[in-house]
Amino acid sequence: MKEKIDLSKLPRHIAVIMDGNGRWAKQKGRLRVFGHQNGVLAVRETVETAAELGIKFLTLYAFSTENWNRPKFEVNALMELLISTIRKETKTLTDNNIRLEAIGDLDSLPSGCRKELQEAMDLTAGNKRMSLILALSYSSKWEILNAVKKIATAVEKKEISVNNINESLFNSFLCTANFPDPELLIRTSGEQRISNFLLWQIAYSELYFSEKLWPDFRKEDLYAAILDYQGRERRFGKTSEQIAS
Ligand code: FPP
Repeated sequence: MKEKIDLSKLPRHIAVIMDGNGRWAKQKGRLRVFGHQNGVLAVRETVETAAELGIKFLTLYAFSTENWNRPKFEVNALMELLISTIRKETKTLTDNNIRLEAIGDLDSLPSGCRKELQEAMDLTAGNKRMSLILALSYSSKWEILNAVKKIATAVEKKEISVNNINESLFNSFLCTANFPDPELLIRTSGEQRISNFLLWQIAYSELYFSEKLWPDFRKEDLYAAILDYQGRERRFGKTSEQIAS
């Protein structure tokens, strides 16, 4: 399938809602945490495949603001898994010239997790091949409200005039200010929802829903998503004829 991909028409930015870890574990009669542990293998394969292809930005929804409401045992296990994965994978990221970045309410993460994340981000800050962006304690409504508060404060201080508030200024107040909007958003597990993820940024993204549960997501599934994306006509509100000319 890889040969069919047009490398000159790759999405620059792919965002992924990694869903189905819990159901995957349940199908095997195991605890949900077992699903998350196996989800890490799919993360590794997806990162590797995206970098090999030449994708420049890959954003993974690893933990939502709403996920804090899960049982304490599961939240703790996810934080531990994050710490151990970041610790284990930083060298591979460096060897492959991949930069680690994060979006979300990072201050709400446990200090050990924040520290590990910060160290890995600092160590990989100079890497240029691809940015791997983890959405952690992230929700889009939180991000948008946060931006609105910052803009309101700047207006109050007369640093910004209301007339200067436009899309580009608003973008600059989001966690994703340094990244282009994703052209492709993938969600696994057959669910067809956005779940408070990048609501502003996906205004014109192509959505792709895979039936695979996240721990089963493999190279070929990413290729299939990109091929599907490449078969679509992106009109951005224009007509087909306008796009063709
Ligand atoms: C959704 O499945 C998955 C999560 C909430 C966590 C995702 C975390 C990982 C894949 C592992 C850690 C990631 C990194 C980047 C180190 P779910 O639990 O909602 O599954 P369900 O819908 O079947 O219950």
